[in-house]
Amino acid sequence: MIIAIDGFSSCGKSTMAKSLARVLRYMYIDSGAMYRAVTLYALRNNWIKNGSPDIPSILGGLHKISISFDYNQGEERNITYLCGENVEEEIRRLEVSENVSPVSTIPEVRQEMVVLQRKLGENKGIVMDGRDIGTVVFPHADIKIFMTADPEIRAQRRFKELTEKGIKISMEEVRENIARRDFIDQHREVSPLKKADDAIVFDNSFLTPQQQLNWALDIVESIAGLHEN
Ligand code: DC
Repeated sequence: MIIAIDGFSSCGKSTMAKSLARVLRYMYIDSGAMYRAVTLYALRNNWIKNGSPDIPSILGGLHKISISFDYNQGEERNITYLCGENVEEEIRRLEVSENVSPVSTIPEVRQEMVVLQRKLGENKGIVMDGRDIGTVVFPHADIKIFMTADPEIRAQRRFKELTEKGIKISMEEVRENIARRDFIDQHREVSPLKKADDAIVFDNSFLTPQQQLNWALDIVESIAGLHEN
C-alpha cells in the first residue's frame, strides 16, 4: 500500500509515520527533509537573503542538487544525504526551518521533489509524510491521513524536542515559526497544504504516540480487509 500522511508543521506526522512503517516493514520517507535539503543547499550558497529566496540562482543550481536517503539500521531511521553528504542533523536547524517554507513555494523546486517522491513510491510499501502527499504526489494513495493538533500543544512538543537537542530557543520563537510556516504552507499557490477530499482527519492533541500508532494500525487493517474482499 501507499500511505500518505499530511498535516501542519510539528503535529507528530513523522513520529506516527515512522512507527507505522516500522511495524508494517514499509519504507518511511520524510518529504519535508527534501525541501529542507534544498533550503540548506541554497543557504550554503547564499541564495537566500533576509528570508527571500533568490529564485533565478536556485533554479540555476537545481540540477546540481541530489537528494537521497539511506536507512541506518542502528539508529532505525532514514538518513538524508545532500550530494552524498549526511545532512540529517543540519537540515533540522532553526535557520533551515525558518527558510524552508519560502523555498518550498517555488514551483520548479516542487516539481523536482514530486518526481523523486513518486519514484520512491514506485514499488509501494511506503509511508510518506508531508503537505501534499495525498493531494498531489499520490492522489491514488490507499490510505490518506490528515493530521492536526492544537497549535499550543504543537508548539510545546516542538519546544521540548528542540531544547532536548540543546538548541536555545524561546517558546515565543517556536510559536512564531510554526504560525508562519502554517500560513505559508496553506496559502502558497502551488500545492498548498489542504486536506484531500478522501483523507481521514486525525487530531492527535491528546493522544500518546502508542495510541496514535494503534489508531493508524486499525485503519490499515480495515483498508487491507476491504482490499481482500
Ligand atoms: O515536515 P517539515 O516541517 O520538515 O517540512 C518542512 C517544510 O517543507 C514545510 O514548512 C513545508 C515544506 N513541505 C512541503 O511544502 N511539502 C511537503 N510535501 C513537505 C514539506
